[in-house]
Amino acid sequence: MDEGLLQYGSGVTERLFWRQAQALIEMHTGPVITARQVGEGFNSEIAVVINDTTFVKGLRSDHPRVWTQERERRINPHVAKVSASLRWTETTGGWDLNGFDLIEGRTAFYGPSSPDLELIVAMMTRWPSAPDGVDLKYAEQRWSGYSDRSELFAGDWLSHTDWSPGNVLIGGDGRAYMLDWAWPTRGARWLDPACWVVWLIASGHHPARAQAWASEIPAFAAAPAHALTAFAQAQAAMWEDIGDHAPQPGLAAAAARWVEHRTD
Ligand SMILES: Nc1ncnc2c1ncn2[C@@H]1O[C@H](COP(=O)(O)OP(=O)(O)OP(=O)(O)O)[C@@H](O)[C@H]1O
Ligand SMILES: [Mg+2]
Repeated sequence: MDEGLLQYGSGVTERLFWRQAQALIEMHTGPVITARQVGEGFNSEIAVVINDTTFVKGLRSDHPRVWTQERERRINPHVAKVSASLRWTETTGGWDLNGFDLIEGRTAFYGPSSPDLELIVAMMTRWPSAPDGVDLKYAEQRWSGYSDRSELFAGDWLSHTDWSPGNVLIGGDGRAYMLDWAWPTRGARWLDPACWVVWLIASGHHPARAQAWASEIPAFAAAPAHALTAFAQAQAAMWEDIGDHAPQPGLAAAAARWVEHRTD
């Protein structure tokens, strides 16, 4: 019997689920010849490269976070300059699947001597502006639970906000790409470089060096000092709250070091 190439589960019901997903994918890609699972599988039930040409990300339609799929669809046409284009969507058969162009590359590395950092700065300088008519989160609301000055984070700029290196791909073409647009947010122009700072510190940068990298983005260099400090404090509170559910250890400590550096 054809077992299907998507092999995520071992039970009969599981196998049936994946075969159904495979049939839905094949409506768009033609026969699945190769299926390579990618990502750490934190969020997506399906994250798979099909036939070395398409990246498919999906959740079952009854998944509590299935709305992240719709959010990615809505923002995708507006972030083409820095991300992978969405080619198709399938929301039948109990699944919600998004099929993107495959970007050949590797996950970014944020360590102090990484050549990727320049490429990421270059990506941030070709960043798209916030689109009209797309429902975005608002920075001042997203962090209101972690700051009583969150109005300082407001603005009209499009922010990604999830700077996990797993969401940044270094393409074979020497460019950095930003993936996983599940939380597009309207906020201050310095917000994304500020989110990046925490990850840089967690990756071994001294807070001063991390800020120097972020300052390559003029909007961060020009950001009001008190707003940045309030944001660093909000990040520290947020990562502390997320605790063991954080995608990697050390983020709360990194954000706390950043706060300390700015308030010493
Ligand atoms: N268009 C693409 N081309 C190539 N690889 C991709 C593409 N989109 C995503 N990936 C890879 O797949 C991984 C998972 O994708 P993404 O981050 O969008 O999903 P996720 O739900 O956050 O998954 P995870 O929980 O594993 O992080 C990424 O870390 C990246 O390595
Ligand atoms: Mg991700």
